[in-house]
Parts: sequence; structure tokens; C-alpha cells
Amino acid sequence: MASASATLLKSSPIIDKSEWIKGQNLRQPSVCVVRCHRTSVGLTVRASSYADELVKTAKTIASPGRGILAMDESNATCGKRLDSIGLENTEANRQAYRTLLVSAPGLGEYISGAILFEETLYQSTVDGKKMVDVLVEQNIVPGIKVDKGLVPLPGSNNESWCQGLDGLSSRTAAYYQQGARFAKWRTVVSIPNGPSALAVKEAAWGLARYAAISQDSGLVPIVEPEILLDGEHGIDRTFEVAQKVWAEVFFYLAENNVLFEGILLKPSMVTPGAECKDKATPQQVADYTLKLLHRRIPPAVPGIMFLSGGQSEVEATLNLNAMNQSPNPWHVSFSYARALQNTCLKTWGGRPENVKAAQDTLLVRAKANSLAQLGKYTGEGESEEAKKGMFVKGYVY
Ligand code: 13P
Repeated sequence: MASASATLLKSSPIIDKSEWIKGQNLRQPSVCVVRCHRTSVGLTVRASSYADELVKTAKTIASPGRGILAMDESNATCGKRLDSIGLENTEANRQAYRTLLVSAPGLGEYISGAILFEETLYQSTVDGKKMVDVLVEQNIVPGIKVDKGLVPLPGSNNESWCQGLDGLSSRTAAYYQQGARFAKWRTVVSIPNGPSALAVKEAAWGLARYAAISQDSGLVPIVEPEILLDGEHGIDRTFEVAQKVWAEVFFYLAENNVLFEGILLKPSMVTPGAECKDKATPQQVADYTLKLLHRRIPPAVPGIMFLSGGQSEVEATLNLNAMNQSPNPWHVSFSYARALQNTCLKTWGGRPENVKAAQDTLLVRAKANSLAQLGKYTGEGESEEAKKGMFVKGYVY
């Protein structure tokens, strides 16, 4: 796959429909030129006309010492965050909080991408600048959450599936116009509820369709099958489920002709369930997680950007640091929401006079994770707040 795609990036012959693999009827994008490489076995490999740009965007996001700030909480979830500091869930309060985040001075030194909720992508800061422009000035690539959330999956064991494929290609085209260059789709797999073969297949297929559609619009898809922390199971069970999930995800990504060099992954770290009595050390989490990645993730993929999933800020940073103690085939980094924002939100508390202090705490976390990406985090001088776990049973994003 890696060599076929590499050739594909160099040459771009335009082919006519008759050259498609027999029996396949792939859609010809209306505004794009489809570029193909014919392999010796007569198969064709297809990429969006944005192939070069996708590869470049993914590499920029996966750049040394940087990771992603996930600030794409839906309005409902953002409301819960605001409620925790006694603020009402109004558009003005969401705007004030997100202005604080995107305009933290020097954030781009540690943060390469920011995932936004649709409202923020089209919103201005409190001083009237477009949020997207502020990010770009900070050298941060704007991204967009494109899934429409989770709903119960009929026929399963109380599991869920992720909505949002209908009309997705028009939305991704519009998001690109608005300045987004990457996308996120979060689906979940529950260990205590199964996972059933149906739920895993549905999660993998949805992610693959979304990834293909996003690439067609020039957005680098972040592929996120979150294996939830919920449960009493041990780390071996998480490892087993993760192997199955990632095998299926890559099977369908390949089936959908997704360009691996133009995607990013957002896995959960391999840990014991949150209610398991045995806890794992950062070294154990790193060993299991890297073993999983080596077994399942092709080196063509440029970046692995972990979610924090309810770990404390310090735990998420220590675990990332442990994974970067020796070179990896991929950029191993972070795409945290809770583990970057928690102390920042509390420090702000909705008060204008605390904006600077809150931005400073965001920078502390961003810098700590930047060091962890480079394998140089020591864990010294961390606050008690940063050590508090944030696991919420049945968490929805
Ligand atoms: P957490 O880091 O809070 O788990 O967020 C994950 C996520 O999907 C945000 O985009």
C-alpha cells in the first residue's frame, strides 16, 4: 500500500472510466480530476484530487513537539462544562470560552491543529476576528467535528452507532470553503456491552465512508473509534478488543480506497477498564498500546493522536511520554479535550480578570504534552487539580 500510494503521489495520469477495476463503479467527483495508478495486477488505486494537499496537511499536524487541541464539544457537552463553573450555556459564553482558548499567546508552538464544533467554525472571537483566522495566525490548522453524534444501534446489545453520513459531502465541501483542513468523526465501542460483531462492523464501516468523503473534499480525516474506558475488565481484554476494532477499521479504510498517508488516527490508549481494580503504570500502558499499534497500523499513516478519554491531565501526559521513549514509525502525539482544558476552564471560572491565568494554564498543559511527544516530560511541579481523574460513566461528547 505504501509503495503504491507513493507512486500515485508522483504520477497523475488521467484515466477514463473503462480503466476502473472490473465490476466497480466508483463515483467520478464532479469538480475533481481523478488520478490513478495502475498496478501490475491490473488493480487501480484511486485518490482524491487533493492527495498532495492531504499528505501535506497531515504532516503539518503531525509535526514534532505538537499535537491537537480538541475543542469541539457539542453545544450540549459545552453546556455541561460551563455549568461546572456556574455559567449558563449561551452562545456568548461559549464564544468567550473559545476565544480564550484560540487566542492564548504562543499556543501554536505546541498545538498544530484545533478541532472545532460547527458553531465555532463560523463564529468570531469576542473582539470580532474570525476564530479560524486567529488559529491560522497562530500557525494552527483548523479542523471540524463532522459526525452527528451517537444513537442506539438496533439489534445490538445496548450499543451505539454514529450518525452523519447523509449529506456529508456537501457539509465537508462547505467546511473546506470556511477554512477547515481536517475533520473528526468519533464513534465508540463499548467493552462491557459486547462489543458485538455488528457494532464493530458498523463503527468501522462508518469511519471508512466518512474518511473517503472527507478526503474527496480536501479534509484530512481523523479516524476515531473510541474504545470506552467504562468497565471492570483488565488491560488484556482492552488489548484484544482494540486489535479486533483496528483490524476491521483498516480493512474498510482500504476497501474504500482511503489514502493512508492522508489520514490521522485518534485511538484510545490501551488501559484497564476504569472500574478495574488493577491499575496500570505508564510503562504498561505504553507497552500494550505500542504493541497494538505495531500490529495493526501501517507505517504509511503519519500520525497517531491519542484521545484522553477521562484520564487525568497528568496521567494522559505521562502515558504519552512513556510511548515516546524510543522512535516510532508514526508521530505519536495527543488530541486531548479534557486533558488539555480541565484546569484552564476551572482557572477561568467565567471571570474576565482570570483570562490570562487560564491561558497560562492551557499553555502549561500544551507544553507538557509537547514535551511528552518528544519523550522529555518529567512530571515535575504539576498541580493537584491536574492529577484528578475525569472519567464519567457513559460519557457522551
Ligand atoms: P477527550 O480527550 O476528552 O477524551 O476528548 C476526545 C475527543 O474525541 C475530542 O475530540
